[in-house]
Amino acid sequence: MTTPTVFNAALSFHLNWEGNVRSLEREAEQTLGNPETMASSAAEAAVKLRADPKMVRLFRDAYGKGPDAATLLDAIATYERSLLTPGSRFDRWLAGDSGAITAKELAGYQLFKSLGCIACHQGANVGGNLFQRHGIFHPFGSRLPELVRVPSLRNVVATPPYFHDGSAPTLEAAVKIMGFAQLDRVLTDEQVSALVAFLGTLTGSYRGQEIRPASALAPAAMAPP
Ligand code: HEC
Repeated sequence: MTTPTVFNAALSFHLNWEGNVRSLEREAEQTLGNPETMASSAAEAAVKLRADPKMVRLFRDAYGKGPDAATLLDAIATYERSLLTPGSRFDRWLAGDSGAITAKELAGYQLFKSLGCIACHQGANVGGNLFQRHGIFHPFGSRLPELVRVPSLRNVVATPPYFHDGSAPTLEAAVKIMGFAQLDRVLTDEQVSALVAFLGTLTGSYRGQEIRPASALAPAAMAPP
């Protein structure tokens, strides 16, 4: 499965492709404990953090006590709730700045609505708040899990490859497949191009920096602070 982004995850009603986790605290707990990811536990991680005087001081300042399983999970979830990326050009357009998107991008938005993409990719996160089958009219990619959480399309330009199994390498491919598989429509190249242009307006910013694909980041930008 491709890793869903943590940006704006706080706005999703369930987490993960399968939507089987309902809170960021529980998600952090499960990931720490999952033998295939971190093979540890919140309690074990807290013991390790208690050996670091700086961590102990930071937790005392925030919680009045050193790290334990509950404060550790709360700290991770609280941090994740700060990972919002507002201020996309589409947000600015919705707020009344008519020059924020181009005529082609606007045509893409009209298509997004008229074709019915919006029936599934909807709400503040342009997705993330429904479960749907994939391949309603025509199958694509791996069939399991049958039901997935509709992904948010915010910052989607920055997160290839696409679909839960990463089977679409580009956004063009993903959009074309969506039209056929979910809506039984063979989209023209022009329609795909307009839809992709619209999706490009959903890229927001975090701390004043526009969200970019990981491949576009210099190694230094990926290093911990
Ligand atoms: C019936 C619901 C439904 C409709 C209609 C729909 N989608 Fe989707 N969309 C999904 C689901 C479910 C997935 C996840 C599929 C998967 O991972 O296998 C998805 C995934 C995507 C992705 C990949 C996102 C990612 O991060 O991997 C893009 C891009 C996308 N849709 C765009 C569109 C566009 C554009 C349209 C209209 C042409 C559209 N969708 C119509 C439900 C829908």
